[in-house]
Amino acid sequence: MNYNKKSVTDIDLKGKKVLLRCDFNVPMATGVITDDTRITASLPTIRYILEQGAAIILCSHLGRPKGEYVPDQSLMPIAKRVSVLLGKKVKMATDIVGPSAQKMAAELQPGELMMLENVRFDKREEKNDPEFAKELASLADVFVFDAFGACHRAHASTAGVAAYLPAVCGFLIEAELKGIGGALENPKRPLVAVLGGAKVADKIGVIDNLIDKADTLIIGGGMAYTFMKAQGGNIGKSLLDEGNIEYAKDAMARATAKNVKLLLPEDTVTAEEFAPDAEPETYPTWRIPEDRMGMDIGERTRVIFADEIRRAGTVIWNGPMGVFEFDPFSYGTRAIANAMAECKGTTVIGGGDSVSAVEQFGLSKHMTHVSTGGGASLEFMEGKELPGIACLMDKD
Ligand code: 3PG
Repeated sequence: MNYNKKSVTDIDLKGKKVLLRCDFNVPMATGVITDDTRITASLPTIRYILEQGAAIILCSHLGRPKGEYVPDQSLMPIAKRVSVLLGKKVKMATDIVGPSAQKMAAELQPGELMMLENVRFDKREEKNDPEFAKELASLADVFVFDAFGACHRAHASTAGVAAYLPAVCGFLIEAELKGIGGALENPKRPLVAVLGGAKVADKIGVIDNLIDKADTLIIGGGMAYTFMKAQGGNIGKSLLDEGNIEYAKDAMARATAKNVKLLLPEDTVTAEEFAPDAEPETYPTWRIPEDRMGMDIGERTRVIFADEIRRAGTVIWNGPMGVFEFDPFSYGTRAIANAMAECKGTTVIGGGDSVSAVEQFGLSKHMTHVSTGGGASLEFMEGKELPGIACLMDKD
């Protein structure tokens, strides 16, 4: 994929109407936003576009309403939050491309903002229907894509619309391309990839892509037990992805053939049951008793992994080392986060649970880049083409 895309700073925006696609898919509880990280992440692009003397038509999805109007998934609370954060009125349309949106867009003046309703209220959005994309495009002069979390979706408002308007990225996409893209394509070496999480199946694409790029591959979390089983270890009641034992064997053989250092946990903190107050006991990973399950990497493993991370030129991390939500089993994930915070190289947190972990530990500010995408970051790390980014104009 070509990561060299034109951005908002490469085009003239003065007097233009800009359709700005953000990812405002924020967690909500009974109509109240519980985490506005994705909204605040969009503000630099919004402010820049307004400063250029342009008007903004904001659009996003929220949840999965499947083409129906669902009152709880209206973007009204998001428009209100953007307005509070910017200190500027955001007009809310009552539809997406209907009479309300069309009239509001036609009357919009430079420096003003409006928000379209949830694009997924229209069945045509997820089908990437060209007519719907054309109707969205007709509201504006320029398309700016800044919805990193949705860039792996080929929908009308993420990819389709780019066929009808000059299309560039915003600052958030630029930062993700530099952060994750830079770590994968042009890393300072050694490149250390740290992969965790429960299931091998979820990480096959990432492991395959990183075996070709990383100098060291660290595998922890629930999926490590399948690798230990593949080596003939006793993993007790630990998570096992039976169908991927052969895959694990093959991945280890490929890593050896490519001279990639593959590190697995040497010791494991175990519990008799999956509970926050379970009594932790540490065992060598290949000798976990029959009645116990792995919950976190052990102390010796923490030292080995942390040492490798501190010496890295680039570290990219996706997936926790253990059940970090339970305090006694959070030390492994904490050790990775601390080592990354101490590392002098480039440190990239590639989305999902690892982002929640570094935020919980208060270490986000010590990382070079913390991704705002979940599924999108994973597909990026798998080396897949991302439709929302591929459709943007290339730099000259
Ligand atoms: C996300 O939260 O990962 C993005 O907003 C994409 O949402 P989706 O998985 O419903 O397409």
